[in-house]
Amino acid sequence: MIRIATEQIQSVSFDGETLYILDQTQLPAVTQYLRITRIEQCWQAIKELKVRGAPAIGIAAAYGLLLGLKDVAADGFDDFYQGFQEKSEYLASSRPTAVNLFWALNRMHARLIAEKEHSVEALRAKLLQEAHAIRAEDEAVCRSIGMHGLTLLHDGMTLLTHCNAGAIATAKYGTALAPVYLAKERGWNLKVIADETRPLLQGSRLTAWELTEAGIDVTLITDSMAAYVMSKGWVDAVIVGCDRVAANGDVANKIGTYGVALLAKAHCIPFYVAAPMSTIDMDTASGDAIPIEEREAGEITNGFGVHTAPPEVKVFNPAFDVTPNELISAIITEQGIVRQPYNETLIELFKQGGNS
Ligand code: MRU
Repeated sequence: MIRIATEQIQSVSFDGETLYILDQTQLPAVTQYLRITRIEQCWQAIKELKVRGAPAIGIAAAYGLLLGLKDVAADGFDDFYQGFQEKSEYLASSRPTAVNLFWALNRMHARLIAEKEHSVEALRAKLLQEAHAIRAEDEAVCRSIGMHGLTLLHDGMTLLTHCNAGAIATAKYGTALAPVYLAKERGWNLKVIADETRPLLQGSRLTAWELTEAGIDVTLITDSMAAYVMSKGWVDAVIVGCDRVAANGDVANKIGTYGVALLAKAHCIPFYVAAPMSTIDMDTASGDAIPIEEREAGEITNGFGVHTAPPEVKVFNPAFDVTPNELISAIITEQGIVRQPYNETLIELFKQGGNS
């Protein structure tokens, strides 16, 4: 492992041989990169949330696939394709909810099929190009989400966010936090209230950390304080990222998001979801059909090495919940902002050139 200065931070990068992943489980105490050379290490890094956040997972998986393909010794397309499918299915088994993982693997698959007339060596080069493109496009996409998001905001506002949908969850800028970074570029004074985000504390360990590093005014609260700060009139809007948007506009995001949306509704506060088009899954009709990851009990009973519950207690630990579309004021994408009725407006958005 190597250590780097915080101003050079990128969540995921690849030099053709080694995949560098910012180990988000060590933040905020330690900023260190994992050097990953095998697909199994990439799978593990995704599973253990060393790389996390829907777009960053997709980018890591695209590069991880290339590492796996190094073990595929094939002379012709058919053997190479079979190896590709095995490695892709393996990576797809790491986490179930964020659709960007499957989106990125599907995009690599589409490129492979499109280039099938080439030699195996050339195919490897084309797939490397594709993985780099996924990463580069994500940066542009997030900046565009930020630009669209800014149209809903104004100088001096206070935003509440849940989990981490920031720069380290993407190639750059983040989704929910992209408007915050762009506001800073414009000289606006936006304030952020960050929910701590039990049980893995992405809000306090990651959002509070990256915003503090960027010199943005952030106040950390525990999840149970959100109702109180809203009742005081201290929140102008909620903005969150997401792991999957269903065709009807239901949204899966970090556990606790649904509760925040209900609180926002009760306090007449707009609730915005920021999502790249790659997070919109038109093949999933509604939130009921989104697979929700369940994680191990120890994250709750023994989080960060401290026993906070009897080890034998029964635990339910879903990593995500679904916010019904009627609680969502708008979904902010790189192609523009959509509102109800989402089952129509999302279709329109894809007609305008989205990549499903
Ligand atoms: O379990 P995590 O930390 O991967 O969950 C991440 C989230 O819920 C984010 O809000 C979502 O992936 C959007 S990241 C731009």
